[in-house]
Amino acid sequence: MVKQMRLGLFENAQANDSGTATWRHPDNKRYLFDKLDYWRDTARMVEDAGFDFMFLADAWGWADVAGERPDVASAEGLDLPRLDPAIVLGALIPETSRLGLVATGSTLLEPPYAFARRMATLDILSGGRIGWNVVTTGTADTAVQGFGVPMVGHDERYLMADDFMQVVYKLWEQAWEEDALERDKNGRFADPAKVHRIEHEGPYFRSRGYGNTARSPQGTPVLFQAGASPAGRTFGGKHGEAIFVGSGPVEQLRALSASIRGEAVKNGRAADEVKIMAAISAVVGSTEEEAQRKYASVAAAQNPDVTIASYAWFTGLNLAAYDRDTPMTELKTELSQTQVARFAGKTVGDVLDDWHAHGVGARPFIGTPEQIADQMCKLVEGADLDGFLFSPVIPPASTADFIELVLPILKDRGAIAPHPAQPQTLRERLMGASSPALAESHTASGYRRKS
Ligand SMILES: Cc1cc2nc3c(=O)[nH]c(=O)nc-3n(C[C@H](O)[C@H](O)[C@H](O)COP(=O)(O)O)c2cc1C
Repeated sequence: MVKQMRLGLFENAQANDSGTATWRHPDNKRYLFDKLDYWRDTARMVEDAGFDFMFLADAWGWADVAGERPDVASAEGLDLPRLDPAIVLGALIPETSRLGLVATGSTLLEPPYAFARRMATLDILSGGRIGWNVVTTGTADTAVQGFGVPMVGHDERYLMADDFMQVVYKLWEQAWEEDALERDKNGRFADPAKVHRIEHEGPYFRSRGYGNTARSPQGTPVLFQAGASPAGRTFGGKHGEAIFVGSGPVEQLRALSASIRGEAVKNGRAADEVKIMAAISAVVGSTEEEAQRKYASVAAAQNPDVTIASYAWFTGLNLAAYDRDTPMTELKTELSQTQVARFAGKTVGDVLDDWHAHGVGARPFIGTPEQIADQMCKLVEGADLDGFLFSPVIPPASTADFIELVLPILKDRGAIAPHPAQPQTLRERLMGASSPALAESHTASGYRRKS
């Protein structure tokens, strides 16, 4: 039997994705990312095509290449300017009815009490279609400068994130019982016996009192996570329900997914309770030659300054300051270690070439629709994945190509999970859960008050 894959769309409420600047390409429409039409059309397109969710990445800060080139960010629309992804998703709630809506939120920079309310509000208004990609913000120092807070070391950011999770779990799972609201005009609005004070005194965060929102359909939104470092995997194995991984060779991804599933098992969860989704891009042509021509037009639309700036934004490292022959193993960072470690065995020059071609993502699948469908099926089986996060090289044209040309082949092969017959919460749809609530085996369900 063919393994059925889950699909998400990787979007970004800015002109470019971090790492590529394709906004000048004639088919790019996301240079109009600040128009609601772009988001409405994109969300409806993927909802109708049967995608499980749309994900809006997010980040704070901007690339300034060791303080020397802050101009690249604004000149090329690289990480500046952007929109708040949670608000964009809120605007898409009435435009969609089944699509999961997933936003990134930072445990380093957002206060947990306010963040918990924002996510609960989205989950309430969408009928339980919300997911949160938990990030510790391992990118440019400019992020913390904007907030006026000190940067925290790589592994310590995950300890801080763990403390953040305790606060939001208490607010989402413990503070309000599911049936606390009575709305009885002749009686009371809510049953005070079902509304509980929370107490949290952690190493990083404190919170005391009542939750500001009642329980949302899912309680905790579906938890996504993407840290691939050892500390990131430990965190993901405990908290993540779905884990995003970058794409790469099948053996490398297989080892990564085995390690993530192993971390889940250490936390008393089943190995398949964590859904692993690899980010992929595709450039599709009716022939291989046409696909290669299309890909060449992507590279031609890119600016070499963006390559340097974007790598610096992820890692704080200015590759232009190193000799091209320098082995990557000589470089060290407290920002994203994954973006250094994944190039072990390569030189600075290799990374410059690679990053110029496709930024932080892996090289796209380039070829005919059948070739791309084959590669996806092979990867999902070979690397023990649960699906893909499709990242359009040229938004939205690459997404439309994928839907029109590749998706029908995958559907014919039975490789795509069917659309739900009835609207479901994101957790039921993505995790195959029988209830909108977190699995009993998840660390947060210990906080839940049962009505
Ligand atoms: C598919 C994918 C999506 C990601 N989305 C975001 C994002 O929206 N915001 C962010 O700050 N980091 C994002 N990341 C980065 C990770 O969350 C993580 O911070 C990064 O891998 C560095 O952590 P690590 O050193 O533990 O691997 C993403 C990573 C992947 C693979």
